[in-house]
Amino acid sequence: MTEADERAHPSGDPWWAGAVVYQIYPRSFADASGDGIGDLAGIEAHLDHLSGADGALGVDAIWLSPIYPSPLDDFGYDISNYTDVAPEYGTLADLDRLIEACHARGLRLLLDLVPCHTSVEHPWFVKSRSSRDNPKRDWYIWADAREDGSAPSNWTAAFGGPSWEWDASSGQFYLHSFYPEQPDLNWRNPAVAEALADAMGFWFRRGVDGFRVDAIFAAIKDDRFRDNPPERRPSVIPGLGGGGQDPLWSLNRPEVHDVIRHLRRVTDEYPGRVLVGEAYLPVEELSIYLGRGSGDEFHLAFNFELLLSPWKHLDLTLAIERSEALHPPGSWPTYAISNHDKPRPATRWGPDRARTAAFLLLMLRGVAVLYAGDEIGMVDADADLLPDPPFDRAGRDACRTPMQWDASPAAGFSTGEPWLPIVDAGTRNVEVQRNDPTSLLALYRALIAARQGSAALKLGEQRSIFEVAADVLAWVRSAGDERVLALVNVGEAAQRCDLRRANAASGQVLVATSGRSGCIPLEGLTLAPHEALALLL
Ligand code: NOJ
Repeated sequence: MTEADERAHPSGDPWWAGAVVYQIYPRSFADASGDGIGDLAGIEAHLDHLSGADGALGVDAIWLSPIYPSPLDDFGYDISNYTDVAPEYGTLADLDRLIEACHARGLRLLLDLVPCHTSVEHPWFVKSRSSRDNPKRDWYIWADAREDGSAPSNWTAAFGGPSWEWDASSGQFYLHSFYPEQPDLNWRNPAVAEALADAMGFWFRRGVDGFRVDAIFAAIKDDRFRDNPPERRPSVIPGLGGGGQDPLWSLNRPEVHDVIRHLRRVTDEYPGRVLVGEAYLPVEELSIYLGRGSGDEFHLAFNFELLLSPWKHLDLTLAIERSEALHPPGSWPTYAISNHDKPRPATRWGPDRARTAAFLLLMLRGVAVLYAGDEIGMVDADADLLPDPPFDRAGRDACRTPMQWDASPAAGFSTGEPWLPIVDAGTRNVEVQRNDPTSLLALYRALIAARQGSAALKLGEQRSIFEVAADVLAWVRSAGDERVLALVNVGEAAQRCDLRRANAASGQVLVATSGRSGCIPLEGLTLAPHEALALLL
């Protein structure tokens, strides 16, 4: 899979259009070495779960959260070497083998690119902090204290506390948008841009199909370090104004688009590769990160409004409609319903909603990013099960527990002691659910198969039908003559639907959360609580 033309759909769309991407948190997926920590060989050994085998999910790509050497202050999002594999995950040769094994089954592999910051242990930063006149000094953002000795600005870091850390030995503050152990790179320095381009090229040449680009909206800050004003109004994306301030000067600066254009230019040198931006922003802002359709910024960017939405008809409707209305023409929304930073859907929205949440993720128009373990309904660990003190100071251990392959004590994840506890693996495991047609795993498989087998669901347009019933979301996906009606009852009561505007008398069940099948008349159609159906009209 190295030629661009092997990467496109027959329709001419790029391979990633409408793709299903599976997110793997490498530490927690599968441990082949027996040290209790997931690794690359473990991932390779479990590819049959994902693609190319009977009973596989049928996803198009995997995205690996960071696999690079790191002192683990932020579990790999603090990189100490951009061009190697952390020893606990394996070697470069293991990664090469994994890429090859993925490609052999038509599966793409994306890595995580963390361009905003490095670890304090990265040799660039070690040199940078060593003295004010080290050539690497300007690779990071250093500033003098204000006259009264305070930090250069009032900016707050994403994980709490000020964004500035005092470095006594060189007598200046350095900036960090996340943990103090993650100093921000200075993207105004062309040498930084060049170094990151080199790192990207290193992985592209090994066959990596793209990157999920971490925290990009924090890559550039105001160069005059102006104080952020107080938060004016709550953002659609809660937490954006962390510390009660509007991050006007510290996040989402206009110059960030120069950074993205640079990353895109590097990527375009390698045909068929994709960049997926991560930015917790309202979708109207996100559309700029997609270059407003100009093709010189990200191919894709996560729209987190669905993930962050309360499970209420009005909020979900808004998330869907804002996404459709505000993405630039020709672009693809990118949805996730969880990730390694957020509580799992079966925890956040409740286990009753895991099936309808899966339906939303996979039947809406867009790219769907599925976090490993959600397909078996894994839930977050209770606080009393988790290590104290936690591994992750920001409190995200609960959603990072090991993948549950079977019901054994270590859930088939490891022959050793798993680095985080196993949570209720009795029925939430792959082995038990694989052959149970009523399981959540079987539903995920059916949803993905329906999507892969239908031009309307994979690549088609989307048009909502409103006021079908109080708690029902309804939309039609269409491509050519093919029309698929999607219906989701997000409420707790049965709902009788008014489907006159679907312009059809009946529909053939393509996939259902409920076990319904066959041809169903639309008149008087009543959905059970938490029921969702996709009907071929
Ligand atoms: C977003 C990542 O998903 C998160 O895990 C990390 O802590 C921050 N970016 C900082 O890199």
